[in-house]
Amino acid sequence: MLQLMQSTASRTGKKSRAQLSRAPLARDTDIVVIGLGYVGLPLAVLAASRGYSVRGLDIDMEKVRKLKKREADFLSPEEHEDFRNVASMDIRADESVLEGADAYLICVPTPVHDNRLPDLRPLKGAAEAVGRHISKGALVVIESTVSPGVCERVALPTIERWSGLIAGTDFNFAHCPERINPGDSKWSTRTIPRVVGGLTPRCLSRAMALYERITDAPLHAMGSIKEAEAVKMVENAFRDVNIAFVNELAMSFDRAGIDLYNVLEGASTKPFGFVKYSPGCGVGGHCIPVDPYYLIRYGRENGFEHRFLQTARSINGGMPRYTVGILERTLREGGMRLSDATVALLGLSYKKGITDMRESPAVAIQKELAKSGAAVRSYDPYVLSQSSVKSLDDALDGADAVILATDHDEFCSLSPEDFERHGVPIVVDGRNCLDKDAFLAHGITYHGIGR
Ligand SMILES: NC(=O)c1ccc[n+]([C@@H]2O[C@H](COP(=O)([O-])OP(=O)(O)OC[C@H]3O[C@@H](n4cnc5c(N)ncnc54)[C@H](O)[C@@H]3O)[C@@H](O)[C@H]2O)c1
Repeated sequence: MLQLMQSTASRTGKKSRAQLSRAPLARDTDIVVIGLGYVGLPLAVLAASRGYSVRGLDIDMEKVRKLKKREADFLSPEEHEDFRNVASMDIRADESVLEGADAYLICVPTPVHDNRLPDLRPLKGAAEAVGRHISKGALVVIESTVSPGVCERVALPTIERWSGLIAGTDFNFAHCPERINPGDSKWSTRTIPRVVGGLTPRCLSRAMALYERITDAPLHAMGSIKEAEAVKMVENAFRDVNIAFVNELAMSFDRAGIDLYNVLEGASTKPFGFVKYSPGCGVGGHCIPVDPYYLIRYGRENGFEHRFLQTARSINGGMPRYTVGILERTLREGGMRLSDATVALLGLSYKKGITDMRESPAVAIQKELAKSGAAVRSYDPYVLSQSSVKSLDDALDGADAVILATDHDEFCSLSPEDFERHGVPIVVDGRNCLDKDAFLAHGITYHGIGR
């Protein structure tokens, strides 16, 4: 993989990791990570475990209080173990922790407002704080996901204004968008290949040298910060569009009585030109349902309408409603109204094995069900505090139907016998993870998404 990236870099005339590692090495040993969430904390822990002196700033005082006690339920078990073993990490909610560091790694959220326009307040706030404390010669890297131009149009001038320093001359400035996939045991902050864009060749070298030492991952130098920003946008928009395509097929094939699940299995036998995506009850998290809006906005600023992206957002955003619609129809066929039904909602987090509920389709389904007047029993072993019942048995017992919204292992291993034992006659499998034929063979009404 590294070889491939190096040859790509040399073909395009860009500096490869090998070439850059011969550049004068930076002196960065003292790092501050700003924003200690899903992205920032694993990075801070990794850097600390590699011997860097790491400090952390987060404006959430409650989170800081927990992190000081090494409590972080959003880390993987391995990361958590490393976090506990890190000898010392100065974590504060007070920006004095930023004073005089060699490198600032900004990992704050980049959400959208209710009107779907980018909310850059956390990024501006972090840039202001860095600007108030940065010293000459330091390196600033933005890891947050932003649309092309935002690093240089928003973060950079903010730091310059508050510091009185000039980027590229007095301090180094780069973008290295994070690509983590929470819950993924193979790809982590340590192993995921990175793209890096620098304001100047020196900024780029400096950032590459730092990431080369912190991670074990291949690094790919981009020609500019804007290109690095665009890479991240394209990756996530690509995913959103492809998922929207299979979701659209699911809705169409549902009417035609074709099992899309089987069709996709068949199409996957083609050894080239086809990539399998899976339909489902919606997409969630802080990236896929958010980042396309940054690109849509960016297009508009340039007088371009991203119709494809807008359609994808609309299709994927409508899947929770579609899923509830399947249940409503199924109940009606059995002579029952959704408003009279008790529904067990399995899952609240946006994907398997994690606690993150941001933009979760399960939460959207919960709201739809509540709006319809159904009695909802929500259960998620990863977010028990948000569940309305405290065990799977409590959720299932005597429910009129189940909607499986998150493919946690605990739910995907449910058998028809489990449903029979609890007297549940209907399941809407929003993640297509149950054995459809087995459920049907037991006389349980099964509906998947496109299945
Ligand atoms: N979560 C993911 O899977 C993922 C993956 C790749 C990229 N990203 C991107 O990384 C960025 C961070 O995402 P996240 O999931 O880690 O968010 P998060 O909400 O988990 O963590 C961000 C942290 O930043 C803190 N914060 C907010 N404003 C701050 C400020 N001005 N100064 C200091 N701290 C501040 C918040 O309190 C929070 O603890 C976003 O741009 C996101 O799009 C996220």
